[in-house]
Amino acid sequence: MYVSENLGVNERGHLTFGGLDTLALAKEYGTPLYLMDEDLIRKNCRALLDAFGKYYDGNANVSYASKALSCVAICKIMAEEGMHLDVVSGGELFTALRAGFPAERIHFHGNNKTEEELRFGLDSKIDCFVVDNLYELERLEAIAAEQDQQVRIYFRIKPGVDAHTHSFIRTGQIDSKFGLALENGEAEEAVARALQCRHLTLAGLHCHIGSQIFDMEPFAHAAQIMIAFLAQIRRQHGVTLGELNLGGGFGIRYLPEDDPVELDECIRLLTQAVKAACDAEGFPLPRLGIEPGRSIVGPAGITLYTVGAIKEIKGIRTYVAVDGGMADNPRYALYQSPYTLAIADRAGDPRDFKATVVGRCCESGDILQEHTMIQAPRPGDVLAVLATGAYNYSMSSNYNRIPRPAMVLVSQGRARVAVRRETYEDLLRNDCE
Ligand code: LLP
Repeated sequence: MYVSENLGVNERGHLTFGGLDTLALAKEYGTPLYLMDEDLIRKNCRALLDAFGKYYDGNANVSYASKALSCVAICKIMAEEGMHLDVVSGGELFTALRAGFPAERIHFHGNNKTEEELRFGLDSKIDCFVVDNLYELERLEAIAAEQDQQVRIYFRIKPGVDAHTHSFIRTGQIDSKFGLALENGEAEEAVARALQCRHLTLAGLHCHIGSQIFDMEPFAHAAQIMIAFLAQIRRQHGVTLGELNLGGGFGIRYLPEDDPVELDECIRLLTQAVKAACDAEGFPLPRLGIEPGRSIVGPAGITLYTVGAIKEIKGIRTYVAVDGGMADNPRYALYQSPYTLAIADRAGDPRDFKATVVGRCCESGDILQEHTMIQAPRPGDVLAVLATGAYNYSMSSNYNRIPRPAMVLVSQGRARVAVRRETYEDLLRNDCE
């Protein structure tokens, strides 16, 4: 009935999360509340690492895309699990370093890294920069020269694969702010230039075709295109780039009927495609990288709210208002993202009440889900939104000066605060008279 393996219903009919009663957690920590299942996060990391061990002799890095959810506790878990880390800002890098995450396992993404971020990455001795454009290449070379450092880089390439159609329209993706296109020779020019840069070592290539993808074929297609480009570089320049990162994007279950590919199977299919393409091109197997975010933390999180006002508009809909909303989860407001919701107090009852669940912001678009089926709600109930582990906390805001919720990590039947609830004082921290 529910979307994730760590959810259940106990003898009192309450929703459980990682074996703990969600009503007890709501009472102890207050609502809104982000809950994360540390054991499931670790299990997902291991599934990916084990799969690469099984299907690719472990010749791979699994990076966690920390944009999905970045805080010190999560970075520590990733470090302990032997993961690599993808950061896209100075703030994500700072968080990782503060968590003691080894810099040599961090790579830095972003289509417009600031001067300060480039220097921060360089000074921190991160593993590599994923260079997005020629302007960045020039600046990085200049800074590296100034500091007399040798810096490893990848290029972010647009493979021209549209992951969200079945026809893989190859030109569709040229219109993207990320990376260098293959179609117009931009990528080729960048490679030629990088090979001239004395302080930069072009170590490999990178691509990322999208997010929440259920079909593995676009990944296989992208791998093929990237390996063909690696082979072309070898022919043109006599240089064999030994590393290839294929990005993130594996889909997760938001609705019971969603049918994502298991992580092990994702890696089996991906490595199979890589091996076939290398075979076809006569190219040696590269060290592979992936950088999933959503599939590692997404299913491992839920959000708890308290139901307040319920407003029935006869013949139209019933609004069920909760004590959070678009400030802690803007995904419906932004993308009409689907979620499964449940009344945690009566989680075993049938979900036979059609509700439009809204937040408390002064904005009509502050909706968590429209026309969704939940158990008949009552004011004071705890309402759970499931699979909120990715892109919720990380996309939250203080709109309407609403303090961000706390985040609690659950592991082996115990709970601990990973991020404290913001206070009104926190909201004023940077205000000047
Ligand atoms: N690598 C790169 C270069 C990316 O741009 C992304 C996500 C990832 C890895 C991780 O992708 P994942 O495995 O999480 O799908 N805010 C949107 C998602 C934006 C994803 C941006 N890039 C959402 O809430 O759905």
